Amino acid sequence: MNSKVTFDSRPDPGTINFGVGQPSHDLLPVELMRKASESFLSCAQPDELNYGERQGDVRFRKALASFLSTGYAEPANAGSLFLSCGNSQALDFICALLTRPGDTVIVEEPSYFLAFRIFLDHGLNIVSVPVDDDGLDISQLEKVLEQSRPRLLYTIPSYHNPGGQTLSLERRQRLAELSREHDFLIAADEVYQLLHYYDPPPAALGTMTEKGSILSLGSFSKILAPGLRLGWIQTSPDLMDKLMESGAVNSGGSFNHFTSHVVRHAIELGLQDSFLEQLRESYRRRVEIMDQSLHEHIGPLASWKHPEGGYFFWLKFHESVDIAELRRHAPEFNTGFQPGVNFSAHAGLHNYMRLSFAHYNEESIEEGIKRLANLLHHKL
Ligand SMILES: Cc1ncc(COP(=O)(O)O)c(C=O)c1O
Repeated sequence: MNSKVTFDSRPDPGTINFGVGQPSHDLLPVELMRKASESFLSCAQPDELNYGERQGDVRFRKALASFLSTGYAEPANAGSLFLSCGNSQALDFICALLTRPGDTVIVEEPSYFLAFRIFLDHGLNIVSVPVDDDGLDISQLEKVLEQSRPRLLYTIPSYHNPGGQTLSLERRQRLAELSREHDFLIAADEVYQLLHYYDPPPAALGTMTEKGSILSLGSFSKILAPGLRLGWIQTSPDLMDKLMESGAVNSGGSFNHFTSHVVRHAIELGLQDSFLEQLRESYRRRVEIMDQSLHEHIGPLASWKHPEGGYFFWLKFHESVDIAELRRHAPEFNTGFQPGVNFSAHAGLHNYMRLSFAHYNEESIEEGIKRLANLLHHKL
């Protein structure tokens, strides 16, 4: 694992860098945010600029609960929701509050590369369990649990980053049971749960908090805008009590009180629902264009699954190919991607490549895949 890897926040304008996992400018809803902000500010009360409730403003949590009840197709209640500043902060917060240096965290192989650094910041010992087509391999996990007593398990159940897999319902249920049987916490990073382009995925782990020791992390980063730094943790009453003991919320109150009012208005005005529909449409078209271009230009050089949601294609190359080495030549071809090794806890996955379709429109995706093909044909 390379804990020095950072995210590419400002790609060179001449490059089509599929390594960037952020929305393109045309999918960042400035007009929507203007409407929601005006709606809030036109009737704002002084208390809304004061410290907020530690758990998050109750009106925001009620609006979020109603949004999730539709999105997750299961009733959610405001009492089970805790306001966060997005999933990165939520993960850091959980580690700070509920783990101790030297504890073991189980991650998936592959896993979201920027989470590794958060675990290392808290002195956690990282152990990995492989992912197959149905998500985290539960029989392998059971083997690891015979020898190891983890404090935490980090999983991305739907539209995995980077692999795109979705954990089956049976595995979700078994994972929840295992957390009780073996006394570990599950941090379920459900950042892509609502970003499905065909059929919805199995029930969110956030709807199973009675069945296991689950902290489900949700975020507005992928369904509204990353710059808002707003998200939530959905959990059981006993784990909620622990979150509420945090010194940080006891001192500062709600982590992001002001933004939560604006987003509440976006939900109440129906803007969040219609924007999410628009995102699903746009991303679905991008998935299809990328898939088609990959077949046309890269074809037999790699294999991949058609993503059903999320942001990523995960390409597997022949065992002899070193994608990190190939990436050194990417700037010469004005292209970019993430090498698989970045997502491995033990420097594996050298022949995998992650491509994001979120940061470029359809035309740029077609052009970008041609450039990538050019690199592959010259350097493989
Ligand atoms: C799996 C996963 N978790 C967390 C994040 C970051 O989430 P947030 O912006 O809510 O901190 C990302 C963003 O790429 C992600 O892919």
